[in-house]
Amino acid sequence: MTPFTPFIDQLFSLNDKVAVVTGATGVLGGGMARGLAQAGAKVAILGRRRDKADAAVEQIRQSGGRALATPADVMDKAQLEAARDAVLAEWGKIDILINAAGGTTAEATVSPDKTIFDMPLDPMRYVIDLNLIGTLLPSQVFGEVMAKAGQGCIVNISSMNAQRALTRAMAYSAGKAAIDNFTRWLAVELTTKFGEGLRVNAIAPGFFVADQNRSLLLNDDNTLTPRGQKIIDHTPAGRFGIPDDLVGPLIWLCSPAARFVNGTVIMVDGGANAFSGI
Ligand SMILES: NC(=O)c1ccc[n+]([C@@H]2O[C@H](COP(=O)([O-])OP(=O)(O)OC[C@H]3O[C@@H](n4cnc5c(N)ncnc54)[C@H](OP(=O)(O)O)[C@@H]3O)[C@@H](O)[C@H]2O)c1
Repeated sequence: MTPFTPFIDQLFSLNDKVAVVTGATGVLGGGMARGLAQAGAKVAILGRRRDKADAAVEQIRQSGGRALATPADVMDKAQLEAARDAVLAEWGKIDILINAAGGTTAEATVSPDKTIFDMPLDPMRYVIDLNLIGTLLPSQVFGEVMAKAGQGCIVNISSMNAQRALTRAMAYSAGKAAIDNFTRWLAVELTTKFGEGLRVNAIAPGFFVADQNRSLLLNDDNTLTPRGQKIIDHTPAGRFGIPDDLVGPLIWLCSPAARFVNGTVIMVDGGANAFSGI
């Protein structure tokens, strides 16, 4: 790459970049999709729920952004290929992939009345697959377009539980730990084989209230559950994250400002991972 220092207004620009965001029908993916659109990117909204995808597209368009609904299941390669073809037909290229689809289920969570020895395999396998294979398959389908073009940026969504044990969330933690490893592996694979225009990084959010964990953190009247209170007590910022907290780090990772940042996991957690609790 020719050495250059972009002007400061180009340093963080995503103008006319084409981004695919899996899990954009959800809370964090939706917030990141809106942030990318505000930074100038055209954004494909990918999730299984068509109505949510349409609503997310409408919201972005109403604020002057460009977006396209591409409903698909991240565990289904044929559906991902159809989404890829729709994006290429509309915008002709893919520059950015955000792998935000993921999460856990009640059946795969070790509730207080259970231990690891009570857990059936199938729900745990589903959650590990959703987080790992649901990132691997989109990386293959959309990443191949980037590899052929010699440039592109993938950001996986990990979790702080990849590095520290969170009670209850065994399968989810294993799936996210695999994401951290896959992030490093894919960064090396793509950059060594297709050039330094290809980069793969991850963001590890701390605790954010979203659809899949709301009932673990908040009671029906929005007061904190005991687990929610424990989290707040162990988060130096003293609050849960909100989707906007992810937007700045995400834009940085996808922009020319991060062109030498590759294979890293960025914590966005209000200091929770750094805090011993004392
Ligand atoms: N909230 C947190 O505190 C937190 C912390 C760390 C990491 N994360 C991670 O952040 C990401 C976003 O989660 P969230 O917290 O925003 O939860 P959310 O609101 O429940 O969103 C989950 C998203 O994943 C999508 N999804 C699930 N299964 C899918 C499948 N098979 N195919 C396509 N899309 C699928 C859902 O879309 P459809 O239902 O429409 O398919 C939805 O858009 C996840 O990877 C999660 O693990 C969250």
